[in-house]
Amino acid sequence: MSGVLFSFEGIDGAGKTTQVALLSQALEERGHRVVCLREPGGTPLGEKIRGLLLDRTEDPPSPVAELLLFAAARAQIVATRIRPELEAGSVVILDRFTDATFAYQGYGRGLPLDQILSLEGIASGIEPRRTWYLDLDSEESNRRRTLRGEAPDRLESEGDTFRDRVRAGYLERARSRPARFHVVDASQSVASIATRILQEALSLL
Ligand SMILES: Nc1ncnc2c1ncn2[C@@H]1O[C@H](COP(=O)(O)OP(=O)(O)OP(=O)(O)O)[C@@H](O)[C@H]1O
Ligand SMILES: [Mg+2]
Repeated sequence: MSGVLFSFEGIDGAGKTTQVALLSQALEERGHRVVCLREPGGTPLGEKIRGLLLDRTEDPPSPVAELLLFAAARAQIVATRIRPELEAGSVVILDRFTDATFAYQGYGRGLPLDQILSLEGIASGIEPRRTWYLDLDSEESNRRRTLRGEAPDRLESEGDTFRDRVRAGYLERARSRPARFHVVDASQSVASIATRILQEALSLL
């Protein structure tokens, strides 16, 4: 495959969507064809699954159902969007990917990590060339989300201890996959984060 896959990770409000947009714009200005996709979603089926996962409901998915819904959405976006774009030579930038499942369903929900790792192979089978994990504490995450003023979705309305476990999951990923998974201090300014990430991205293209 001639394209390159990048992903952004981090808890709510860490700045993923902000940085995806900036990186995408900077790479397009340099002549790259860039496709940005969000997880879960990015396909008509995936967007429906996104609703099932994130809407507040009286009948929320059990932890295992949640894991499998994320996996189904991922299998769809990998098959119908990510692989074809990479084969066509695009730079594909993902707003969350497999590391989020490890952090949220593994560390956050406490599902067995070996099962999550084997699902990665089934649902995805591809790894980003580089993942930027925007590391933020739950206090600052809450502050930014309050500023944004949107009603929290089902996963966002989990408490601080859940987010702290998710953060520990992401940091474990950084320890076990240091070449791919880079930790960025998300409390820095938007511009300085974007500058560092663009330099790294350009060095990989
Ligand atoms: N480095 C930063 N410093 C201060 N504020 C920031 C920074 N990056 C993003 N923000 C602001 O924080 C809020 C959340 O940013 P953004 O939507 O990019 O986060 P996100 O990780 O995509 O969140 P979510 O997981 O909820 O989609 C926005 O209002 C954004 O403008
Ligand atoms: Mg976002």
